Amino acid sequence: MVLTEAETAIVRALWRKMGDNVGVYTTEALERTFAAFPSTKTYFPHFNLRPGSAQVKAHGKKVAAALTQAVAHLDNVPGALSALSDLHAHRLRVDPVNFQLLAHCLLVTLARHYPGDFSPTMHASLDKFLSHVNSVLVSKYR
Ligand code: HEM
Repeated sequence: MVLTEAETAIVRALWRKMGDNVGVYTTEALERTFAAFPSTKTYFPHFNLRPGSAQVKAHGKKVAAALTQAVAHLDNVPGALSALSDLHAHRLRVDPVNFQLLAHCLLVTLARHYPGDFSPTMHASLDKFLSHVNSVLVSKYR
C-alpha cells in the first residue's frame, strides 16, 4: 500500500462524498487542463474541445471510472489500471508531464467544490493518490 491508512481513509471519504458526481469534476478538470495548458489539447485532435463539449463530458466519465477503480483497489493500483497503463504508454504515448497537469487541475477543481474539506491533509492525501495513479500510468514507457 503506497498510501497510509489515514490517507486511504481520507481519499475514500471524499470519494463517497462525491458519489455520482466524480464525472462532473473530472470533466471540469479536463476543461481546466485544456484551458490552462493548451499543449495538452494536441492529444485530442479528434475531439470537440470547446467548453461544454459532450465528447469531453463522456471522456470525463471514463477518467472518473478509472479513478474510482483506483480508489477501490488502493492496495493494487497497478493491477486495477494495467490495461490503461498499456494504452497510455504504448498506443497514446502521452508525454508523462501531462499527467501532472491533469492532476493539478483535478486538485484545483476539488478544492473549489469542497473548500470546507480541503485541509492541507486532504490536499496532501489527494496529491499522493493522484501521483500514485500517474506513476502507474507512466510505468510502462520505454
Ligand atoms: C483515454 C484515463 C490521463 C490522453 C483514456 C481512457 C481512460 C483514461 C479511462 C479511455 C480508455 C478507453 O476508452 O478504453 C486516464 C486517467 C488519467 C489520464 C485516469 C490520469 C489521471 C491522460 C492525460 C492525457 C490523456 C494526461 C493527455 C493529455 C488520453 C487520450 C485518450 C485517453 C488521447 C483517448 C481518447 C479517445 O480517443 O477516446 N484515458 N487518462 N490521458 N487518454 Fe487518458
